[in-house]
Amino acid sequence: MTELTAQQPTAQQPTDKQPGITLTAREVFGIDSDMKVTAFAEPDEHVPQIDEAYRFNTDVTLAILSGFQFNRRVLIQGYHGTGKSTHIEQVAARLNWPTVRVNLDGHITRLDLVGRDAIVLQDGQQITEFREGILPWSLQRPMALVFDEFDAGRPDVMFVIQRILEQDGKFTLLDQNRVLTPHKWFRLFATANTIGLGNLDGLYHGTQLLNQAQIDRWNIVARLDYMTTDEEVEIVLSRVPSLRGRSDGETLVKSMVAVAQMTRSGFASGDVSTLMSPRTTIHWAENMDIFDNLESSFRLSFLNKCDPAEHSIVAEYFQRAFNRELDESIALQESANDDVAGSDDGSAITAAP
Ligand SMILES: Nc1ncnc2c1ncn2[C@@H]1O[C@H](COP(=O)(O)OP(=O)(O)OP(=O)(O)O)[C@@H](O)[C@H]1O
Ligand SMILES: [Mg+2]
Repeated sequence: MTELTAQQPTAQQPTDKQPGITLTAREVFGIDSDMKVTAFAEPDEHVPQIDEAYRFNTDVTLAILSGFQFNRRVLIQGYHGTGKSTHIEQVAARLNWPTVRVNLDGHITRLDLVGRDAIVLQDGQQITEFREGILPWSLQRPMALVFDEFDAGRPDVMFVIQRILEQDGKFTLLDQNRVLTPHKWFRLFATANTIGLGNLDGLYHGTQLLNQAQIDRWNIVARLDYMTTDEEVEIVLSRVPSLRGRSDGETLVKSMVAVAQMTRSGFASGDVSTLMSPRTTIHWAENMDIFDNLESSFRLSFLNKCDPAEHSIVAEYFQRAFNRELDESIALQESANDDVAGSDDGSAITAAP
């Protein structure tokens, strides 16, 4: 797959490629559904690599498949690191569907998307030539265009996308006096952390309020939050196979996932302001493999990202899952204080009545 933030990609992509095979959701994704999907027989340079360890979420997979099969515009929303971007990529990989992913950060301009005049050399002469942006380029090809971080896009840029959100949404290239009709196999997806209502829970600084007429145009909005404990344990073990090889590997990963889940419910109830995403659980397991030290890999992967005022709460989650105290735990700090107080002049300080 190609990640493009600039203008026209240099790689050539044929416009006449046709999907030639039909797959079933059951066969390919192990999902209990009779949905059939048209797919391409051969991968090309724009098709993402298959990640064998990827675990598909049934509802989200069906939503993405209907995007490919029925030309639905699909937006996937959910907390960070839950696998939204990779989910679309991994479905596309199995359908051999060429895909480009554009990070809609605040620096993407209208010209990046639409195109602009560029000065090029032709037969030794400087001439001005219109260079298509990523939008018209992919619109005319059998291509899935994924707008990542859709809620971070600038409002003026978002209006460019408004029209193509409609199925037969023709796209007018004003500078060229040309009207482009989307290719029969062009598909459009997006991912976002918020649902366009802004940074409500304080987690997603930099996101924008989205125009409701735009949210309204997405045919399908799927939510991808956290997976079940067993699924997350399975993903971590397949990402870090050396842990699977250890006799205590599975118990260890189960406890790591338990810590992650405690941070998530702690966040939901307002006890902590940082939560551990599945991405961080994977990082922790990888760091555990590198440092072979549970406590320090936990500190390096997650604890140091948290507000110091909340370290003791997070240390308590760790203690509950592993039955081991971290240095940051209140219990250890209290007993250290007691020791210092006790060793001061030989007499322990007693609390005032
Ligand atoms: N279901 C899954 N199976 C295997 N790996 C997963 C799964 N979900 C997430 N991961 C892994 O977690 C990491 C984060 O995934 P990804 O980048 O797709 O998340 P995201 O939801 O797009 O996050 P963000 O909102 O921060 O963009 C990746 O390394 C991905 O491989
Ligand atoms: Mg993402």
